Amino acid sequence: MNISALVSILSSLAADPFIAEAPLYIGLPESIDADLLYQEGFLEFSQLEGGMRAPLGAGVEFNGERIDPHNREALSVVFSEVHFANVPGGTRIRAKNDSQGQEVWSYPEGTRVAHKISIKTRPEKLFELRMIQKRADGTWAFGTYIPRISETTGAPLKLSLIQSSERQPYFEATNQIGETNVSISLTRIRSTTCQRCHAATSPSSHQYPTLAETGPCGFVPANRENVLKWSDGFAQKHGAVPFE
Ligand code: HEC
Repeated sequence: MNISALVSILSSLAADPFIAEAPLYIGLPESIDADLLYQEGFLEFSQLEGGMRAPLGAGVEFNGERIDPHNREALSVVFSEVHFANVPGGTRIRAKNDSQGQEVWSYPEGTRVAHKISIKTRPEKLFELRMIQKRADGTWAFGTYIPRISETTGAPLKLSLIQSSERQPYFEATNQIGETNVSISLTRIRSTTCQRCHAATSPSSHQYPTLAETGPCGFVPANRENVLKWSDGFAQKHGAVPFE
């Protein structure tokens, strides 16, 4: 192969960061305890008022009827969501302004932001725990955990990370929501798409100079007021201020 052919192959690989790169979930543990968020002192934060909302999956159907992904009202009859964040003890998120005067946060290594999505049975059942974690090299790992259920008691034992070698993660289940049974089917979101969407939908995406550096979507300067409330609660709970 001549040099120019080689150069053109290498540059086409570089143009699509999803080819020949390690999976986005590298750095996340393969399995976690079902109550990790509570064990490790994560704290809830409120999402942006009227902000864009994350998708549940592709081709969502309730009782065989296709649900419009933007129809939050219909989706929220069956699903609920809560956001959580945590920084390692003694570390802080630092805010500064970039050369254009826009607020940019530098998140410490090990910052974790979680998106817990549940099915509104009574009590609620975990559907997915999406997790973003800041790596040592400044990029973020993205992954989705799903419950592994005990066959004897039906209780969730552990949460396991969806890995890219698994076949397309299809979900189908019938659950009692209020007084009625609802059969749910959908295809779960793959981790290959997480970062691309966060780069396009985060109101503070200016703080991610490249796609590979893209991180949280709502735990960002545009949601400062809610993150400051989170910071106050965190300081009370852990005795250390996580934001400056
Ligand atoms: C189609 C766009 C889209 C895709 C795909 C997507 N997200 Fe998100 N995600 C969002 C938006 C928008 C929010 C902010 C939600 C809000 O504020 O209500 C969000 C929020 C989150 C949060 C909460 C913390 C935060 O502020 O960022 C986590 C964690 C998260 N996503 C992880 C993931 C993971 C992991 C994947 C891939 C498996 C993924 N997301 C795929 C759009 C997306």
